Amino acid sequence: MPSRRRFATQAAGLALAVTGDWVRPLRAQPGDPLAPWAVTPRTDPRLTALAWAVLAPNPHNRQPWLMRLAGTETILLHMDLERRLPETDPFDRQLLIGLGCFTELLRLAAAERGLAAEITPFPEGEPQPRLDARPIARITLRGAARPDPLFAAAARRRSAKQPYDVTRPVEAAAIATLRAALLAPAGFGAETGDVARLRDLAWRAWQVEAQDRAAWMETVRLMRFGSAAVAATPDGVSLWGPQMDGMIAAGQLTPAAMEPGQPGWRIGFSQYQAIFEGTNAFTWLVTPGNSRAEQFAAGRDWLRLNLAATLHGLALQPVSQALQEFPAMAGPYREVQALLGGGGTVQMLGRLGHPLRAAPPTPRWPVESRILAG
Ligand SMILES: Cc1cc2nc3c(=O)[nH]c(=O)nc-3n(C[C@H](O)[C@H](O)[C@H](O)COP(=O)(O)O)c2cc1C
Repeated sequence: MPSRRRFATQAAGLALAVTGDWVRPLRAQPGDPLAPWAVTPRTDPRLTALAWAVLAPNPHNRQPWLMRLAGTETILLHMDLERRLPETDPFDRQLLIGLGCFTELLRLAAAERGLAAEITPFPEGEPQPRLDARPIARITLRGAARPDPLFAAAARRRSAKQPYDVTRPVEAAAIATLRAALLAPAGFGAETGDVARLRDLAWRAWQVEAQDRAAWMETVRLMRFGSAAVAATPDGVSLWGPQMDGMIAAGQLTPAAMEPGQPGWRIGFSQYQAIFEGTNAFTWLVTPGNSRAEQFAAGRDWLRLNLAATLHGLALQPVSQALQEFPAMAGPYREVQALLGGGGTVQMLGRLGHPLRAAPPTPRWPVESRILAG
């Protein structure tokens, strides 16, 4: 057994590794979990657009998409019902937002090649109270479209899980640019001045989730411990890189160490404390109601917001805990809706700021593995 002191020293290293002190190069080799980030054109333009779409942000990197190709121009997008997050996303609202991000990235990728995407959300009706086997969207690539400048940031976009530079305020001009990038600018909100109340609320909500055993263990079950595990299952929460691989090989970083109150959990706690302290701006998206179509549309705009922030040199990280609809979160949920919702529903809340360092890309399943036959 390692001594507590030795573990603490290595834990500091791990914290760095997780928050972005990370040097793994982008390589496009078979079996490399980062290979999907080096998109190569396919013969079928739908596949090229889909190869970009799988790079979309999505909760816990579940990659909850399944696609069926129909005819020569159409894609039917489905939710992979095996990839739910029943504890923290009991109504599949966040997963649907991820599918909205996916669809908007697909549309931008098609436009980059001059193709328009006709998007029909829920062509067989809106699934309630949870998503089901019916399609989330029918997307037809047909007709001409102009490229969107946001696409230039697609390969660099990240959910940057690290403290930001709080000595540099986020400028009003940047906020105006972000708003202008959205399909529904009326739902956009941002705070770049006194963020103490929001920061406190988001951090308290993070702690509620971390101390709720069922919610926290849902995340732990999605952790991939070490590079070999990440390569075998390139989704979920990847704990990899030379330093973490070493700790895993030495038996110091295990699922048991991540249980509430255990050393790995405590590392996560201090990391997130630093992350919330390293926050001087927040942004959020509100929809008038909370229909499936609105959740999907919020996802499309979150992707646009993330790309616009990237183009502007700003980092963005969703902090979704207060928006989650499980019983233990009821208090923070009410608070955040009252504070930011204005009578609508807050769909996304994120930290925004000037990055201190580049954030690493996250693994992806190759697009071909997510296409349904027939
Ligand atoms: C609806 C939604 C909710 C998310 N919530 C969180 C969150 O609470 N905390 C966080 O660090 N990342 C959150 N993310 C970001 C994902 O973890 C991230 O998109 C995923 O790991 C892939 O990484 P990437 O965006 O850097 O490609 C969320 C993303 C989406 C779409």
